[in-house]
Amino acid sequence: MPTIAVTGATGELGKIVVERLLKDHPGIKVVAGARDSDKAAPLAAMAAVVRELDYDRPETLAPALQGVDKLLLISGNAVGQRVPQHKAVIEAAKAAGVGLIAYTSVLRAGETSLAIAAEHKATEAVLAEAGVPYVLLRNGWYCENYVFRLTAALEHGALAHCAGDGRISAATRADFAQGAVAVLTSAEDQSGKVYELAGSTSFTMAELAADLSRQSGKSVPAINLSPEDYSKALIEAGLPDFIAGLLAKSDLGASEGGLFDDSRTLETLIGRPTTSMSDVIAAALGK
Ligand SMILES: NC(=O)c1ccc[n+]([C@@H]2O[C@H](COP(=O)([O-])OP(=O)(O)OC[C@H]3O[C@@H](n4cnc5c(N)ncnc54)[C@H](OP(=O)(O)O)[C@@H]3O)[C@@H](O)[C@H]2O)c1
Repeated sequence: MPTIAVTGATGELGKIVVERLLKDHPGIKVVAGARDSDKAAPLAAMAAVVRELDYDRPETLAPALQGVDKLLLISGNAVGQRVPQHKAVIEAAKAAGVGLIAYTSVLRAGETSLAIAAEHKATEAVLAEAGVPYVLLRNGWYCENYVFRLTAALEHGALAHCAGDGRISAATRADFAQGAVAVLTSAEDQSGKVYELAGSTSFTMAELAADLSRQSGKSVPAINLSPEDYSKALIEAGLPDFIAGLLAKSDLGASEGGLFDDSRTLETLIGRPTTSMSDVIAAALGK
């Protein structure tokens, strides 16, 4: 049985991966890498081996990766600092003799116009140069990204966006996590594989607004703004400039097709269609 380590194990995606590994694959030793061990107490209670693993503290990396056969490197959330952070983990994993690194990248990292892709593309290049066995889990957008927008839309009576008619193949974190577990526990050699992962179905923002209206019983039209106006509206609503800019750029990327994928690769990995956005809306509305 291999030892599998997960970085960012206390994050939203990481904790689901750790839980699934423990639940569905008893016998596998699961190392939960966390920068804050206290936050990982619930994972330790489930029998994960919690080790301190902080991308910014190189002294934590070698001990955290000792004896690890496979590593899920979950991309960090410190936008702008991620390439050196990821590089430190990749170099430590190579030195520790880790047999496979699975990295959570972004959909079509190589060619996408999505603004946040640059650090993922650079991390993929680091992996290629490092000469370690690796597999790319290129994740599309989370359905959960839209839940807070729907809450705001219900409050304001409209769903503002700048994604135009772009189709979005979002999937839930739980489904992406299950895909990652399938790759990490596969008996097949995963080295060199690239998975473009996204939802089985897709929606436009207009369709999302129509579904929200139908399910909530309130009329919530979609309003397509220019990226500048959308960003301005988010700042006026209280979001920090940087976050407003990122959200507007994500919608812009969606308008250019950057969040659409109909390969059904994630569906094939997990052996069932992914949870639909419609079901996510229903759950968010408590239905
Ligand atoms: N596909 C999408 O729609 C989407 C959306 C947002 C983000 N992402 C990317 O996917 C990743 C996982 O998503 P998520 O929802 O799980 O995000 P998340 O909940 O923000 O989790 C990020 C994890 O990274 C950890 N982390 C941050 N800095 C670290 C450091 N210096 N050393 C070690 N760990 C560090 C955090 O630790 P703490 O628990 O201690 O905070 C957290 O566990 C994100 O980090 C981001 O790169 C994807």
